[in-house]
Amino acid sequence: MDDIHSESYVKRLFAEMAGTYGLVNLLSSLGFAWWWRRRAVHSLEGSAESALDLMTGGAECLGHLKRRFGSTTRVDLIDWCPVMCERARATVDRHPHRACEVVHANALRVPRPDDCYDVVTSTFGLKTLARNELPLLAREIRRVLKPGGRFSLLEFSMPPNRVLRFFFRFYVKSYVPLLGALLLGNPDNYRLLWRYTSEFGNCDALVPIFREEGLEVECRHHFFGCATQLVGRLPPDPSET
Ligand SMILES: C[S@@+](CC[C@H](N)C(=O)[O-])C[C@H]1O[C@@H](n2cnc3c(N)ncnc32)[C@H](O)[C@@H]1O
Repeated sequence: MDDIHSESYVKRLFAEMAGTYGLVNLLSSLGFAWWWRRRAVHSLEGSAESALDLMTGGAECLGHLKRRFGSTTRVDLIDWCPVMCERARATVDRHPHRACEVVHANALRVPRPDDCYDVVTSTFGLKTLARNELPLLAREIRRVLKPGGRFSLLEFSMPPNRVLRFFFRFYVKSYVPLLGALLLGNPDNYRLLWRYTSEFGNCDALVPIFREEGLEVECRHHFFGCATQLVGRLPPDPSET
């Protein structure tokens, strides 16, 4: 059986989906994905000179980051899929504020020095990481955040209510692939969304992993648990307070 979390598998999947991903995501979520990204970004408090968006896809968070923190905030957008990076660059080019760089790299090995970002975001990328990669993600976020820096990570999740889960299952397993096919994508790729989401569960399991790395974190549930969000910070340096 294919290892759906392997680097080659995930890269190929998103290279194939890149052309239809944005539209399928917007239409299939009835705008919820856009709204949840916005909430993920806007729940970050304070100001930021520098921001990092991990597993950026087509730079779907860029507009929210610029609206939340302002046009002068420097934004790095990281993705390891070259085709998705091209789409992210096209988004940056369309954007009026261009203090941004698209970085082709693995989110678990950010090619930047320690303590260099005020905020880190990531939306809808967690589910493709293997379980044993989640502590590496927490460590990398801790490494690149400045003391006192904040992070917000969001993912589609399995709602705890059984009735809602029944409809959610139908929607993710059948409706999303159908929409993908209608928009000329490969429905098998979109069918994988169910496998990733059901294996992922929700962000609750990530809380102890992030605490283990010394990060302060809480898990928030959106729309009865159909999406969950990890929001937290690296505690400020006590010598600087
Ligand atoms: C579901 S898309 C999410 C895109 C976007 N953040 C959004 O909100 O729609 C997941 C993206 O994460 C990227 N990705 C997955 N694992 C990665 C990793 N380890 N390093 C860098 N990018 C990764 C994929 O290439 C894909 O573009």
